[in-house]
Amino acid sequence: MTENEQIVTPFQVSSDSSINYDKLVNDFGCSRIDQTLLAKFTEITGHKPHPFLRQGIFFSHRDFGILLDHHAKGKPFYIYTGRGPSSQDLHLGHLVPMLFTAWLQKVFQVPVVIQITDDEKFLFKQLQLSEIHKMARKNIADILSCGFDISKTFVFCNTKYVQHMYENVLEIQKRITVNHCNGTFGFDGSSNIGQISFPAMQIAPCFATSFAQIFDLTQTKPKDVMCLIPCAIDQDPYFRLTREIAPRMKFRKPVLLHSRFLPSLAGVGTKMSASDPLHAIFVTDSAKKVRKKINKSFSGGQQLLEDHRRLGGNPDVDVSFHLLKIFLDDDGKLQEIRRKFASGHMSCGEIKALANMTIASMLQTFNASKPSDIQIQKVQEIRAMLFK
Ligand code: TYM
Repeated sequence: MTENEQIVTPFQVSSDSSINYDKLVNDFGCSRIDQTLLAKFTEITGHKPHPFLRQGIFFSHRDFGILLDHHAKGKPFYIYTGRGPSSQDLHLGHLVPMLFTAWLQKVFQVPVVIQITDDEKFLFKQLQLSEIHKMARKNIADILSCGFDISKTFVFCNTKYVQHMYENVLEIQKRITVNHCNGTFGFDGSSNIGQISFPAMQIAPCFATSFAQIFDLTQTKPKDVMCLIPCAIDQDPYFRLTREIAPRMKFRKPVLLHSRFLPSLAGVGTKMSASDPLHAIFVTDSAKKVRKKINKSFSGGQQLLEDHRRLGGNPDVDVSFHLLKIFLDDDGKLQEIRRKFASGHMSCGEIKALANMTIASMLQTFNASKPSDIQIQKVQEIRAMLFK
């Protein structure tokens, strides 16, 4: 990696400084979420944009305006997101798309499908399927704690649901060459053949006919159903590819809402990741563990307090500030924290203490809303879900 170069793929996120999101928007060919789009959202839904939209955490999109027009005409859509079960517990970064998806579901009152890619983690990690299945079950419980409406949510594990998507998977596989797949994801001759064919599994849920027993497709033509995908921007390559092949399969292109990454506790050059557990906060971490981790996290302040008071700090590289930006739902207070930290009026210890308090209280609420075994089972049942 040369200076200022960054890598953002579903398998790696790294940069030698902060992730340059403007560059990503240019390189990936997506669009910035701007005030005009947010005003349109409010006009059509009657809802104030979520704090993640107001704070620019969800910062980029593909065709969200088209989806809003489609919805305004009373036409059907569903929301699709997912999780690859590679750890027992979700970390705070995973909560970003999940909390946002649950909020979108409340706003639009539409079905949500959540793909659990147990196959992906088997193919890409040194894990046994039996371990992955245990993690998947725990992950589903965490996902439901994000506030989904169980009656409008379908969660499925690929190894169990594949038969229902398989015809679409085949149609997709036939339209993507190995060269194109390798170019998009960085696979090569040493990749196992499961890895190369996996993208078709993540693409298939973008098409309504993958849920023929769930959606009522007798009243609606599948090609009139749109699909909205909230995710962090690392997942975009799958959906760029989907948008290329969708017209050839006579489907609408999926619509994307992309979030930034919650950074690793080690610094803003990479995302919080389950593969670096020391620098990630998991939803089961005790208050003491959270405090310890945040206290050790990368600071944007000066080493010595007197220097900090004189020179101020850089909130944009301060991990505590990033945590607050995502989890402190108070625009005014955030602005004040940014100003005080940048001017040296708020110390590194003070901003860390605030981040501690905010995360501890968020996790307390989160862990108090665990789903029952019946709800976990219900959400995985193949059953009808209406678009409205
Ligand atoms: P996975 O399990 O790596 O991540 C699940 C979701 O969390 C997002 N994410 C983050 N967001 C913000 N900050 C972070 N530090 C962070 N780390 C992860 C991911 O972008 C993702 O949205 N292959 C996928 C599972 C999947 C999927 C999907 C995701 C299947 N179908 C459709 C999104 C949409 C995966 O392994 O995600």
